Amino acid sequence: MDAPTAPRLPDPIINDRNLAMELVRVTEAAAIAASRWIGLGKKNEADGAAVEAMRKAFDTVAIEGTVVIGEGEMDEAPMLYIGEKVGAGGPKMDIAVDPLEGTTLTAKGGPAALAVVALAEHGNFLHAPDIYMDKIAVGGGLPDGVVDLDAPVASNLRNLAQAKRCAVSDLVACILDRDRHKELIARVREAGARIMLISDGDVTGVVATATPESEIDIYLGSGGAPEGVLAAAALRCIGGQMQGRLMFDDDAQIARVKAMGHIDPRRKFTLEEMAKGDVMFAATGVTTGAMMRGVKRFGNGAITHSMVMRSKSGTVRFIEARHNFATKTWTPT
Ligand code: FBP
Repeated sequence: MDAPTAPRLPDPIINDRNLAMELVRVTEAAAIAASRWIGLGKKNEADGAAVEAMRKAFDTVAIEGTVVIGEGEMDEAPMLYIGEKVGAGGPKMDIAVDPLEGTTLTAKGGPAALAVVALAEHGNFLHAPDIYMDKIAVGGGLPDGVVDLDAPVASNLRNLAQAKRCAVSDLVACILDRDRHKELIARVREAGARIMLISDGDVTGVVATATPESEIDIYLGSGGAPEGVLAAAALRCIGGQMQGRLMFDDDAQIARVKAMGHIDPRRKFTLEEMAKGDVMFAATGVTTGAMMRGVKRFGNGAITHSMVMRSKSGTVRFIEARHNFATKTWTPT
């Protein structure tokens, strides 16, 4: 009698699963390349190494990918520019990348620099050039609309404290330490909440609101719009609320955003408008931060720590990988 065989999963499901897990190879490659530059005071070199490694790693991923959040527009970025096609062929996907989120952090050996990628079906990411976005984010399990980008800071903090059944003074807001946030910082302190000022890295700042182990309850303030879309992709996977509004310095920026298809570039975007449908997200730590450890290099290899998540399944995986440079198909520097 023939031995019973396990039921075979249909091909689309198998392919679909492989795709989510393949993403992490791309962020691992970028993080390892960037780690060579930790603390050397050269942020452009660190960024360049991460971009190049990520670009090469995409060549093995089974997608027909288009970069929609990238290193800039075609004339200003040699690789991973907005509109660039990447991948080895397969389903049409849109890609959001930040090969090195925290270039200055890496150059200074500071905490929580990451290599980040998100993937969604074509048309599902907000298209945003490298301008600023005003952001507000909180974690999951809270009533819809508990905070709003247009509400006064004090009332957002009051509502959040009520929803979390704590006092406003128990809350911690994460804000980028910038002069432009002086007034915001003063208003948060006046309302009685505490603040964690970060020097860089607001993808981590936003994601931390949804990470139970972190002390951060709310993210407030402006940072990069591309980082906003990447953070939205992560929050779609782990749960949380976020709103963002693009900010413009001049009419030329408005024209650029309109050319990307936005009818009303000044409106407030919800989490789903920034990253909708089935979203996949992967990040690898370059330097150690609240979410992950950084790259540990040794002899002829390295250990990396990554997170891979997907909105459809809600699974969050933490992956530790030991890389042997002698046997890799690509050679890290
Ligand atoms: P880089 O990786 O490009 O250095 O960006 C780091 C970062 O802190 C982002 O996390 C954040 O969104 C943005 O810079 C804020 O921009 P700015 O430094 O101009 O305030």
